[in-house]
Amino acid sequence: MLIKTSSDIPSSQITSESIYFNRRTFIKGSALTIGALTPKLSMAEQATTVALDYKPAAKEQESGFYTDEPLTPLDDVINYSNFYEFGTDKSDPARYADNMTTDPWSIKIEGEVDKPGEYHLEDILAKVDLEERIYRLRCVEAWSMVVPWVGFSLADLLKQFNPTSKAKYVQFETLHRPKEMRGQQSRFSTIDWPYQEGLRIDEAMHPLTIMAVGLYGKTLPNANGAPIRLVVPWKYGFKSIKSIVKIRLLEKQPTTTWQTLAPHEYGFYANVNPDVDHPRWSQKSERRLPTTFFSPNRMLTTPFNGYAEQVASLYTGMDLSKYY
Ligand code: MTE
Repeated sequence: MLIKTSSDIPSSQITSESIYFNRRTFIKGSALTIGALTPKLSMAEQATTVALDYKPAAKEQESGFYTDEPLTPLDDVINYSNFYEFGTDKSDPARYADNMTTDPWSIKIEGEVDKPGEYHLEDILAKVDLEERIYRLRCVEAWSMVVPWVGFSLADLLKQFNPTSKAKYVQFETLHRPKEMRGQQSRFSTIDWPYQEGLRIDEAMHPLTIMAVGLYGKTLPNANGAPIRLVVPWKYGFKSIKSIVKIRLLEKQPTTTWQTLAPHEYGFYANVNPDVDHPRWSQKSERRLPTTFFSPNRMLTTPFNGYAEQVASLYTGMDLSKYY
């Protein structure tokens, strides 16, 4: 991104295990299962490893909810991550995000809704059904992954608060807690915290747009945005904001972190588009993780990250090189 371009971290150098699961009983009407534990985990970490109860991904591909492309190994999903609240290195989130307290957690709902307020995550989750979605994630830095998320549609969440007819956009905000997020303390950070993102209301209501609370069948690792994050698979990864504490329904297009920092490089829409290069690098292809220097696993990038059939109609008549 703006601060640092991507660098390869060979998986051979990666030592930490999937130790970042959080304690939370957010499974509707069902008992928790404690996940399989490996000897590498500390007692505290073992106590926080939680499996989720969810409907596995239906294997029909027309909806875009599923792909049969090889999954990116869990270790790479956790250890090759962007979460600038914990540092700019890909391995910083896995190293430092464990300090973030995610229980209790609540989300403030503000703006153009009939039912504004602060809602406990447990109460929000009691009203939704969790399901698996196997999505491609394409970072603007030209690397990509395939991740089996567990979550629910953002539309189902927003409907809980009755958006008014004036709600044309949705803005999201990440936790701002410098004591636990060392990147927010950094004097060198150019980001004006908290991290913010936004969507048009029709994008937010699209069936592909989900709030994820897990991946690989278990609660989200802190590094990947525990306890709840956005996933918008046809847009560059920076739109998929992590560790959300505020959702604001708005009449006007909101400000977003990367667009504010460098508007000529990062747009509000940020739809994956191989025909519009980033000013500093090409977007025509991507490295699909895991990669090594000798095996870069490079492939062509597809419009809307392969979800054109489902979402291209949202942008009919728009000049996508202007609204990038
Ligand atoms: N959300 C917050 N709050 N802070 C961030 O730095 N990085 C974004 C996005 N969400 C980011 C964030 C970027 S650039 C990407 S590519 C994805 O998270 C990466 O998600 P992952 O680490 O789960 O792969």
